[in-house]
Amino acid sequence: MVKIWYNVVMKTILTGIRINSEPTLGNFLGALLPMVRLSNEYSAKGWQVNIFVPDLHSIISDIDGDFQKNLVNSIKYYLAAGLKANQNVHFYRQSYVPAHSEMAWILNCVATMGEMNRMTQYKEKSEGKSSVNVGVFDYPVLMAADILLYSANYIPVGEDQFQHIELTRNLAMRINHKYGDILTVPEKTEEQAKFMGQTNGDGIRIRDLTNPEKKMSKSTPGENSKIMLLDIPEKAAKKIMSATTDSYAKIQYDMFNQPGISNLLQIEALINNQPLQEVISTWSGETHYGDLKKQVADSVSTFLANFQADFSAISDEQVYELLEVGEQYANDVADKKLMELQKVFRLR
Ligand code: TYM
Repeated sequence: MVKIWYNVVMKTILTGIRINSEPTLGNFLGALLPMVRLSNEYSAKGWQVNIFVPDLHSIISDIDGDFQKNLVNSIKYYLAAGLKANQNVHFYRQSYVPAHSEMAWILNCVATMGEMNRMTQYKEKSEGKSSVNVGVFDYPVLMAADILLYSANYIPVGEDQFQHIELTRNLAMRINHKYGDILTVPEKTEEQAKFMGQTNGDGIRIRDLTNPEKKMSKSTPGENSKIMLLDIPEKAAKKIMSATTDSYAKIQYDMFNQPGISNLLQIEALINNQPLQEVISTWSGETHYGDLKKQVADSVSTFLANFQADFSAISDEQVYELLEVGEQYANDVADKKLMELQKVFRLR
């Protein structure tokens, strides 16, 4: 009798959301919800799922509200969105795993000024400022450390973070080329997008409701430009009803010419876990923007009402218990990888 052994390699999915303020619907649909769906599907198959709080990344800029409360809430958001905790899902705080900072320093000695100067997020965040802290510049290197320490293959993030994933891949490949295969190179961004259900290979970018040329961002002033996860559902519905559209009077998916309408179609698809193409087919050719707005407003407000009820039922203690277990796991895994790297750099 011939026995065939299948060598199944378990992969790792990893993401983090900063805690400078309550997340927007953009954070939610671009990263949090995809992570919840992927986690529920893949952790059940034995993959590792790492959800961490990038508290060190958060201190590069001001914090709205109470830092520790934001931190605990940030874990509650995943649970309220339906994430099922199990032994393959790990929650931890970045600053409670010192290997992140150590690894970042080593990667600093591999990254070049040229590639760091090209980072769009740094350019945007420093534009017009007379002084910018070094953390803003070095942010992507710490992010690479967050990913490479855990050999993560898939990193559910919004499109604005894809450049940082590319940098992470480049740093890993550079180290592997010089020292042998010690780091796992995460998948290309196109594959990341497909893994998140974006069949066209594009990343998710939810637009500002009042200026759909731009991405929805917590730092944009103007209440109506963004929906926050703890917005009163009726208020959120009003924001959708007053979203900027265009004068074509024809519903079609065209992010370039009709970003406002396309954004609404995108929100409708993601929030209901429906393929974008299906939502586009339902609405294509319709002329009444008000009908689409009403539908999206209903979807968003129903979702927020359910989400907020679940959110308020989760206790702080539940979160701290998850963090305690997760931080033991994270320190074990991260220390091992760091040691491998320290050895090839002859620090050990
Ligand atoms: P943060 O907190 O700035 O953003 C959290 C996530 O939300 C996504 N996002 C959006 N997605 C779609 N449309 C939008 N309008 C929108 N706005 C924000 C971001 O792409 C992000 O996925 N650098 C990360 C935090 C981080 C991290 C990591 C993530 C630090 N280390 C390692 C993954 C792996 C960030 O942008 O956080």
